[in-house]
Amino acid sequence: MRIALGADHAGYELKRLLRGFIADMGHEVTDMGCYDAQRVDYPDIGIALGSAVANGECDLGVLVCGTGIGMSIAANKVRGVRCALCGDAVSARFAREHNDANILALGARIIGDETAKAIVAAWLGAEFGGGRHAHRLDIIAQYENTEAAK
Ligand code: RB5
Repeated sequence: MRIALGADHAGYELKRLLRGFIADMGHEVTDMGCYDAQRVDYPDIGIALGSAVANGECDLGVLVCGTGIGMSIAANKVRGVRCALCGDAVSARFAREHNDANILALGARIIGDETAKAIVAAWLGAEFGGGRHAHRLDIIAQYENTEAAK
């Protein structure tokens, strides 16, 4: 799969580690920055990566910031994005199976490297279950296309 990776300065080091980890799993990785530890604004990265996933340039995305909260808020403003902030592998698996999360957000100041790798592996290894879960996502997608959501 084509996986987009993005981080702010707080997530920069973890992103570097995950870039190799995800590539070693056989995926094509697109690194959307940041490219050094200089301070940046997480919404710029989160919205750009969210757009790349929503428009089909990439299949899935992983965003990293200090807590993962800002990145998840920013990415979820992009229509079609279902970004899940996960701090454990079980939630990550369900995020894919039940919520078809197309972006995973991680908090580099909250979780360690090994936990981050376990979360990413669980998320990439899971599949969307469809059925009743798809119906619920349709409700969200329908709302996204209403005037009220603009
Ligand atoms: C940056 O200091 C920090 O606010 C950011 O990485 C993230 O945690 C925001 O949610």
